[in-house]
Amino acid sequence: MKSRKINTQNIIKQYESGVSNYSKSTYDIGLWESEKTVLLNYFKKSDRILDIGCGTGRTSFGLYQLGYINLSCFDITPGMIEAAKCIAETKGVDINFSVDDVTQMSFENESFDAAFFSFNGLMSIPQSTNRATALNQINRILKPNSYFIFTTHDRHAELDFLAYWQEEKRRWAAGKQDQRLYEFGDRLAMSKNENTEIYIHIPSVDEVTLAIQKAGFTLVETFYRSEQFDESDQVKAFSGECRFWVLRKA
Ligand SMILES: C[S@@+](CC[C@H](N)C(=O)[O-])C[C@H]1O[C@@H](n2cnc3c(N)ncnc32)[C@H](O)[C@@H]1O
Repeated sequence: MKSRKINTQNIIKQYESGVSNYSKSTYDIGLWESEKTVLLNYFKKSDRILDIGCGTGRTSFGLYQLGYINLSCFDITPGMIEAAKCIAETKGVDINFSVDDVTQMSFENESFDAAFFSFNGLMSIPQSTNRATALNQINRILKPNSYFIFTTHDRHAELDFLAYWQEEKRRWAAGKQDQRLYEFGDRLAMSKNENTEIYIHIPSVDEVTLAIQKAGFTLVETFYRSEQFDESDQVKAFSGECRFWVLRKA
């Protein structure tokens, strides 16, 4: 039988199973030190900010607490948004949460001053063409010179996985890769927090650099989290390593 490619419904299903874990992180963890520092560096308190793939609001409530109150937050997974709304009610905080897909969002052109897609969410969109559409859409809704910040894994920096990627390269060359995947760099693995298989694309720096240029962004800075921040053990257990990307709409 031919394997079905990973699709949006698979992604929603995988994140539905993570709702309780993400809810816990919203209460117990909030913004990471790295996120807090980068956001304060680039976003102005008066900015109209889009929190993309906000999950249960870990970053949204964190932003709000820092004084960023002009927020629109959305996620493709209905259970995440349901939980975010419950948490907002519990906290007595008025944040606008909605269900939406970043590749099809209907916000007006140039209507935001800043955008954030945290915790490798952009790379949980299957297929490079769809990730390119997401980047184009984000560029479209931002005003000129606005910042867009996101994170990804880094295929060449994660030393424990170098042998895995060498083997994976051989499998792709021989056509023996998991047929549910689209491109080299795609990975399906059991989640350490939830009992489900998680899809994520693990990019190279060159690949992301090219994609952001094509979408009309200028790279302001990129760094590997551990180069600049020593996060708490709790944050490290929740999130693992990642690379930050700070872009400006050209
Ligand atoms: C790794 S989780 C991060 C959640 C939250 N930002 C956090 O850091 O706690 C990635 C999130 O991106 C969302 N997501 C994936 N594809 C999306 C899409 N096309 N549009 C909007 N959200 C999406 C998922 O539903 C998931 O909640």
